Amino acid sequence: MNKAREFWTTPAADPHINPTPEIARDEVLAISKTPVIDFGCGFGRLAQYFWDFQYIGVDIASHRIDEARRRNPYHRFEHIDSHFDLTKFDGAQTIIVDNVLHHVPDDEIELMAESFAKTAPFVAQAEHIGTPRTGTLTSHCRPLDVYESIFGDFGFKIGKHTHVWNPRRKVNFSVILWKQRTSAELSGRQITS
Ligand SMILES: C[S@@+](CC[C@H](N)C(=O)[O-])C[C@H]1O[C@@H](n2cnc3c(N)ncnc32)[C@H](O)[C@@H]1O
Repeated sequence: MNKAREFWTTPAADPHINPTPEIARDEVLAISKTPVIDFGCGFGRLAQYFWDFQYIGVDIASHRIDEARRRNPYHRFEHIDSHFDLTKFDGAQTIIVDNVLHHVPDDEIELMAESFAKTAPFVAQAEHIGTPRTGTLTSHCRPLDVYESIFGDFGFKIGKHTHVWNPRRKVNFSVILWKQRTSAELSGRQITS
């Protein structure tokens, strides 16, 4: 078990879950086309903003999934392990990763991006990008160009990038819509009108 997984799958991580994420909630909801997979859903904070048939929450922490089900009895939540296959959640349009990717180590993130690309045309990412952080054991703060390279390898480009001021940490919080390139873009053809 790697360090990040060990951290997140124990209740010791729970106080780290909700300190700031409400800040970008409206922006995340605005860019998320349904149905959504809320990847790293924690306690299922976002579930209440979607109809039950539009939403599935997944997380590596089984106790958090239990709590998410208790808080949102009509929504679907699934515990996933390290060998997750999201394509079984058929028809998803957006994978939401709200305060998650900066906790994912380098040796897992490529596999994760690949899995996202096979599953949905959009990814809605919200977190502090490239801002040094202290105090969180598993924080992997990557600059934007690193994310562009990781997602770009699997056909994604930035569709929208919004900055939301986080008064608590006094830094900008990024909300990014990643969208799959069209087949014309991938093959390098120019569309002219
Ligand atoms: C800071 S919390 C954010 C929770 C939720 N997205 C929110 O905004 O309220 C990070 C969550 O990501 C989950 N997580 C961390 N690494 C993960 C991984 N490799 N796969 C799936 N979930 C992961 C953790 O278990 C935790 O619930």
